Amino acid sequence: MTLRSVIIGTGAALPPHRVSNAELAERVDTSDEWIVERTGIRFRHIAGPDETTSTLATRACRAALEAAGIEATSIDLIVLATATPDQTFPASATRVQTALGIDDCVAFDVAAVCSGFLYALQVCDSMIRSGAAKRALVIGSETFSRILDWEDRATCVLFGDGAGAVVLEGQESDEATGRGILATRLHADGRHNDLLYVDGGPSTTGTVGKVRMKGREVFRHAVVNLAAVMDESLAAAGLTSADVDWVVPHQANARILDATARKLGLDPAKVIVTVDQHANTSAASVPLALDTAVKDGRIKQGDLIVLEAMGGGFTWGAAVARF
Ligand code: UT7
Repeated sequence: MTLRSVIIGTGAALPPHRVSNAELAERVDTSDEWIVERTGIRFRHIAGPDETTSTLATRACRAALEAAGIEATSIDLIVLATATPDQTFPASATRVQTALGIDDCVAFDVAAVCSGFLYALQVCDSMIRSGAAKRALVIGSETFSRILDWEDRATCVLFGDGAGAVVLEGQESDEATGRGILATRLHADGRHNDLLYVDGGPSTTGTVGKVRMKGREVFRHAVVNLAAVMDESLAAAGLTSADVDWVVPHQANARILDATARKLGLDPAKVIVTVDQHANTSAASVPLALDTAVKDGRIKQGDLIVLEAMGGGFTWGAAVARF
């Protein structure tokens, strides 16, 4: 037996306001046809004036806690991945903590943009296996609509708002067949900062800034890096792509999902796709996709899943788990 972090509950939250490509085409020079053909996106959810990264995160956490059948007060660690915190500080994780009625626990944010959930997952997994925590809420939550340049058709059609969360619990697990996170691998290469970034920040312009992206270059790196890190994390777990039941990828572009699956020789039917419904929700996209496939019954207890993401930095990573 070995101590592993087991996913005991998943949850998600989307703002009720859903915007179609046709509605966007009334605001910017684009078309449903272009967006669907180049990205696979059909809809995105956009936060209302009273919704923030922490309110969406709190809703996702409540759903995950309910799915796990546990009380919020039994959580001793909250890590929230986001590039769009409610405020520069304090960490949005502490707002979630208060909203959930947890008086004392460890709570902080992680900034790795679209890979943020994978980074947060590895941090929580490491803290659980080291004995520093027993039960963690791992959250990806974003309100990218607030940092989009709504005049820039090359970026504003691509992103949406939302949140996803999982409850991780330390459990003694059978070495060979037991549940839990089996391996995680993370990477960063800051030489590519200028391909995907926000042109503002507290220490530079003093403003929040807007998303800027050289999409074609990001696309090229994404396929290569994601296939490599999935292979790397599977090898670290002593497995191959033939062992995988489900891939839960970062939802940036349907063509990236197809190209990555092809590169790994994976059946596209094993890839969870939500980009059509949610667009790119940055750090929220992996836990949102995971929750979708758990709730609709595709991902079942005991299935071997691979989570992967890549984003600004560049940062990228993958995790292999027996659900
Ligand atoms: O989450 C972090 C990771 N992010 C990603 O993985 C994003 C990766 N990149 C992509 O998904 C794709 O590169 C995009 C979807 C962003 C763009 O697709 P593309 O096939 O690489 O298009 P492009 O940027 O090369 O643009 C092709 C054409 C351009 O026109 P010209 O110069 O060929 O006349 C653009 O001006 O499409 C035009 N275009 C648009 N047309 C209609 C760009 N955006 C739009 C638009 N509607 N919204």
